[in-house]
Amino acid sequence: MDFDRVINRLNTHSMKWDMMESLFGVSPVDGIPMWVADMDFAPPKSVADSLKGLLKNEVYGYYGPDTSYKNAIVSWMERRHNWTIEPDWISTTHGIVNAFGLCIAAFTEKNDGVIIFTPVYHVFELVISGAERRAHSSDLVNVNGRYEMDLDALEASLTGDETMMLFCSPHNPSGRVWTKEELKAVAEFCEKHDLLLVSDEIHHDLVFDGHKHTIMSLAAPEQIARTIVLTSASKTFNIAGSHTGNVIIQDKKLHTAYEKFAKGTGISGSAVGMTMLEAAYNGGEEWLEECIEYLDGNRKVFDEAINKIPGLASMKLDSTYLSWVDFSGTGMTKDEILSRIQKVAKIAPSPGLQFGESGRLFMRFNIACSRSVVIDATQRLKDAFSDLQ
Ligand SMILES: Cc1ncc(COP(=O)(O)O)c(C=O)c1O
Repeated sequence: MDFDRVINRLNTHSMKWDMMESLFGVSPVDGIPMWVADMDFAPPKSVADSLKGLLKNEVYGYYGPDTSYKNAIVSWMERRHNWTIEPDWISTTHGIVNAFGLCIAAFTEKNDGVIIFTPVYHVFELVISGAERRAHSSDLVNVNGRYEMDLDALEASLTGDETMMLFCSPHNPSGRVWTKEELKAVAEFCEKHDLLLVSDEIHHDLVFDGHKHTIMSLAAPEQIARTIVLTSASKTFNIAGSHTGNVIIQDKKLHTAYEKFAKGTGISGSAVGMTMLEAAYNGGEEWLEECIEYLDGNRKVFDEAINKIPGLASMKLDSTYLSWVDFSGTGMTKDEILSRIQKVAKIAPSPGLQFGESGRLFMRFNIACSRSVVIDATQRLKDAFSDLQ
């Protein structure tokens, strides 16, 4: 796969490219979109082939049976994560945001507290508050450029109405891969405070050498009865438009309760999304290895250039293609930083404040694009902050 190839995504209903100007004032003609988490790479050929196969059918009716779809997931989890699961633990949703939205609606009540570790994927907060629950934030602690959880501080902050923890593993926006010990501690915390543990593991496949992602259920098997794992192929294979995700619940009682609720929402999978996921899991492994290697190269080029710019510091990514850059060393306000990035460098990253107050002076850069674009972006940033050098 040629990851260097620059694909023109303009006017393709690509949110990343076609909404950049209206959202950030950066023109896609000479600007660089480095915000929303989709890659500028073509997914594995098996995915395109599966869509061509669908097209050949001529008739596009209801999808079923889902046996081969579920088997593809079972096999993937075994091969890539040493996680042995059963097909009937799997429930399909319209993506992972939909999945945690359903879990919140199914298992918490209005005004309940849902714990999140901030900064974190901003949609956690949006869905929690949208469902009229209370997002209970626990700030991650930046220890020498690496986030750690402070469970003691979290415990001291509890108000007693918390019923769920929505956990991001690996962590977006920092790319942190949590250790088994950290995951176990999180699960034990949930046991102590009788919280349901929803583990969003959408980024679980994009992990760099030297780090190992552990599925929550494997790190804390004794907490299975309160654990829900959310996975999808959309980040792994760059098929976010497939809008297909999975809720995986091992505990029979919990799974039955989830299914009962989901039934009342009328949700069912999409033929297009499920076909794409199955094709990606069955035929995309080699592509994924190459993709991780390419992203590893991008991460090195990006970090090296960024960390040479006085006042800027990127967190070293264990996983993901979302680089979390600390601009606090510039001494500027969030608006001054953003103005230089958007107006001078003509780059649209995700503003860090989106992910929580502690992200105010950070920006998140999506580096899943051709290496030439990463190099161009770092040069633009260097020029935009050149007076600091
Ligand atoms: C942690 C996390 N969860 C969920 C999503 C979105 O999932 P989906 O597109 O399947 O709804 C993202 C996208 O960036 C994410 O980072």
